[in-house]
Amino acid sequence: MTAPLLAIENLTRDYTLRAKGATRHLRAVDGVSLAVEPGSIFAVVGESGCGKSTLARIVMALDRPTGGTVRLGGDDLFALSPKALARKRRDFQMVFQDPYGSLNPRHSVGRIVAEPLHLLDDAPRGRDRQSLVARALEDVGLPAQAAERYPHEFSGGQRQRIAIARALITNPKLVVADEAVSALDLSIQAQILRLILSLRDRHGLTVLFITHNIGVVDEVADRVGVMQAGRLVETGTVREVLDHPREDYTRTLLAAEPTLAVLGRRRRRA
Ligand SMILES: Nc1ncnc2c1ncn2[C@@H]1O[C@H](COP(=O)(O)OP(=O)(O)O)[C@@H](O)[C@H]1O
Ligand SMILES: [Mg+2]
Repeated sequence: MTAPLLAIENLTRDYTLRAKGATRHLRAVDGVSLAVEPGSIFAVVGESGCGKSTLARIVMALDRPTGGTVRLGGDDLFALSPKALARKRRDFQMVFQDPYGSLNPRHSVGRIVAEPLHLLDDAPRGRDRQSLVARALEDVGLPAQAAERYPHEFSGGQRQRIAIARALITNPKLVVADEAVSALDLSIQAQILRLILSLRDRHGLTVLFITHNIGVVDEVADRVGVMQAGRLVETGTVREVLDHPREDYTRTLLAAEPTLAVLGRRRRRA
């Protein structure tokens, strides 16, 4: 096995809740360990509230763990100096669920897609910046001219392509996609999943793909971790976990899987 790009070990996140004078502790992420190989897609699947977004925020260093480590390309994210972490941020980018709320409606698409370029030491300007934006847009199947338009001129699926272009513009090693297709119609979901696969194949992109819907996992992921109440209860290749689930919880998720017949069962028997 090649060295993992992302290695999470024994990760825990506790929240303290205060209500009516009482204090309660909630363990949102509970001892999660997983490793993602470069150029692969690792899906984390589980019901709403099981801790997926908490995990995603920690991997993005938007939140700190209570315990455990996150290593990206060998570096322990939470042991880095603030300056080193700021430099590291170009290596990981996020795509969120909501293709409407995640793009500033007052900014042109070009400005939105270019935003992460400030993370580079030598942020490109002028023509260089424009050509990077054009390349990122074309990479996700949008015309370069989309840069001059505004988010409201695009459909939900196109907006998610814009969000992906923005995530790719710094040439990150890892993209964290948190429910990135969940708000889209099924046929559009299929298109975005195909785009993510093609980015993996063309650029060797590594993706932590987070979803409550086990139905999309088969289409996009190489490996999958099933999360229940903060813990990863089962991890393996997509074939192992979907075709031979060991856990009752995984079987329950599979039984409730909305049919994605529109996507075909391309890899089901592969
Ligand atoms: N900032 C927070 N403060 C307190 N509790 C939180 C916070 N964020 C999430 N939680 C709780 O942590 C648990 C996991 O939430 P979350 O990670 O959003 O789950 P998921 O993304 O799987 O739906 C839930 O019980 C949620 O209410
Ligand atoms: Mg979530």
